[in-house]
Amino acid sequence: MKKMLSIALLALCIPAFVFAAGSSEMASAEPSNEIEIFSWWTAGGEADGLDALIKVFEEKNPNLELINSTVAGGAGTNAKAVLATRMQGGDPPDSFQVHAGHELIDTWVVSDFMEPISFILEDNGWQDSYPQDVIDIVSYEGEVYSIPVNVHRSNVLWVNPKLFEKYGLEFPVTIADFFKVAKVFKANGVDALALGDTNTWPATQLLANVILAVAGPDKYLELWNGTCRWDDPSIVSALETYVMVLDYVNSDHAAITNMDAGGYVAEGKAAMNVMGDWIAGYYDSQNYVYKTDWDWVPFPGTNGEFIMLSDSFGLPKNAPNRDNVIKWLETCGSKDGQDAFNPIKGSIPSRTDCDTSKYSPYLQDAMADFATNRILPSVAHGAAISESWVTKVHDIVNEFTTLKNVDSAVKSFQATADKYAPMK
Ligand code: GAL
Repeated sequence: MKKMLSIALLALCIPAFVFAAGSSEMASAEPSNEIEIFSWWTAGGEADGLDALIKVFEEKNPNLELINSTVAGGAGTNAKAVLATRMQGGDPPDSFQVHAGHELIDTWVVSDFMEPISFILEDNGWQDSYPQDVIDIVSYEGEVYSIPVNVHRSNVLWVNPKLFEKYGLEFPVTIADFFKVAKVFKANGVDALALGDTNTWPATQLLANVILAVAGPDKYLELWNGTCRWDDPSIVSALETYVMVLDYVNSDHAAITNMDAGGYVAEGKAAMNVMGDWIAGYYDSQNYVYKTDWDWVPFPGTNGEFIMLSDSFGLPKNAPNRDNVIKWLETCGSKDGQDAFNPIKGSIPSRTDCDTSKYSPYLQDAMADFATNRILPSVAHGAAISESWVTKVHDIVNEFTTLKNVDSAVKSFQATADKYAPMK
């Protein structure tokens, strides 16, 4: 069955191969030794983590040549558009980075662009190697469609310990604490919260954190499945809180990226930043020292909660080098691959049997929290809602962050929920 499928796909692949490789190679029936991997991992930590994963792949497959195609821009700002053009034009990369959850399923699986790959888990005896919740969000109608290579947390407040010490302050635990310390920093001319939303999604991520903190986890979930309205008093209060938080952000926030904003904290240019834990990988790559240059707490008001997202790779239909993709996915899913990639990337493994001693103290804490906290899906990174919806959410967040008009934001957010939420 599997063999027939690959023969059929090989036939479908020939035109793309001719186009890519030129006529001189066309005559050869030899399988290609290439594989193209597509991602947006170009920044410090992310690029290094990917290199480590590629090294494991190359050691296991010395005869294959991996083409590392990247398009810079955090959260796939630019990469996703390039990917869409390629997929729709019948020129898929062999495998591409995609967020587990709605982004994978709604954008690529339901529209029939992906092959099911449950057989990879079966062939490798990995059916019990991942938490069921993680497998569930890469599955559709009983089939697995991608291999999750990591788990990231996005409700983290990164802090500069020296600045807190200088002003005799404790890291904030509640939203009230946050405003207490933010006022002190502001009074002393220090930017309390670094934001780098030139690409908008960091503002969406900040807003999602504030909603979770103020409205609580049940409302957070209901908002994104459409059973809680945006004019619910707890959500309005969260939007008002977001506007208050903006009083404490750096004035150049719209001109800098998320990694720049993370850097502001480690450099002592700002006291705090809200970002996913790829920032931990970035800090390590820049040799910033844990507990000296940076530290962390859960976003205030979200202790015991873990907003998760996961990067994964799958097998597009018509992938030019299908057999090689299977080998790549076997590296992504393996213990060796995950233990090489994640400690550098700043993420925790999606497998449950990895070697914890290879991970930094921050990542060990993240693993402990992932095992015990309430897990909630990320909005900004493809887990909670579809890409079509999140694109609209980004537009509204952009306007809201500039105009700070709660009434108008409530109306606009509700209009998109009416259109996109699964349960209205
Ligand atoms: C996320 C992705 C992370 C990291 C981050 C910043 O969407 O899942 O792995 O790349 O963007 O670029």
